[in-house]
Amino acid sequence: MKRRTFVSGTAALAAAGFGSSAFAATIKPYSWDLNPPTDTRDNFIAWGKARGEDPVFLGQRWDRFQALLKNKDIWGATTIRAFLLTPREEFASVNPAIYKRAYEHNFLDIGYGVTMSGPHLQGRMTNVIDVKRGEKVLEIGTGSGVQSAYIANLTENAYTIEIIAPLAQRTRALYDKLIDKGYTEYKHIKTKNSDGYYGWEEAGPFDKIIVTCGIDHVPPPLLQQLKTGGLMVIPVGPPGAQRVLKVSKTQGADGSITTSREDIYGGKIVPFVPFTKLEGDKIAGTHNR
Ligand SMILES: C[S@@+](CC[C@H](N)C(=O)[O-])C[C@H]1O[C@@H](n2cnc3c(N)ncnc32)[C@H](O)[C@@H]1O
Repeated sequence: MKRRTFVSGTAALAAAGFGSSAFAATIKPYSWDLNPPTDTRDNFIAWGKARGEDPVFLGQRWDRFQALLKNKDIWGATTIRAFLLTPREEFASVNPAIYKRAYEHNFLDIGYGVTMSGPHLQGRMTNVIDVKRGEKVLEIGTGSGVQSAYIANLTENAYTIEIIAPLAQRTRALYDKLIDKGYTEYKHIKTKNSDGYYGWEEAGPFDKIIVTCGIDHVPPPLLQQLKTGGLMVIPVGPPGAQRVLKVSKTQGADGSITTSREDIYGGKIVPFVPFTKLEGDKIAGTHNR
């Protein structure tokens, strides 16, 4: 079997043909007042360049944003802002083979047998949970880190869990590097290496939960840690053939708790990597019933 090596940041940039000066740039630190223009491509690129970003990637980000709009995968002003402020290329920089492909439609290989989900899916899943500033959001499946990077532009209370220990460490180190570089919004993200099936009880309850690995049922601990009135988005179904559901948790007049489910793609199958299970400190199979 062919072995691939995944490297981080600077080495990946060099391998991809970018000079080291690309990483020397200092990014203007985050503030809730940062508002990228949405009127023209040129204005957006000029604005992003002034923040310290690469104009080539800014152009690609704008073009993908236009495709997201056209496909109705993004619609809310705050989610649009989050997409336009997030440098996907930094999260793809762990693999030289995907670094320049960060804004493509498809999911991309980030090593460890898992993927970085595509921007259309992430746009829709993020928009569906409609995160308000101050809300607590839990993500299951940190992976590349880009999904929680979007959440970090929506609230200062983002929590994310990754089951693969070296991947969790690599992404934590990437957030820290990006914070040093000026992307101070990633200080909003708390990371943990554990089995996300059980949620993050000490940090809960959560207003919103976003699950980025596929399972055949909604994990009861996650439903329990979701606030009444909260929303969860989760791929549910048999291996490789999930449907992405929005689960709402509500309380009736008599005090009873109910949940309702809505397919955010109207029935389309969307395959996800499996929601795996930890036994001791080893990953052993999945949580499917
Ligand atoms: C589609 S991938 C990555 C998605 C990520 N949000 C991104 O775009 O990079 C899903 C991730 O879920 C992780 N995962 C699978 N089962 C898990 C579990 N029980 N707890 C936490 N993470 C899990 C995988 O290791 C993988 O990194």
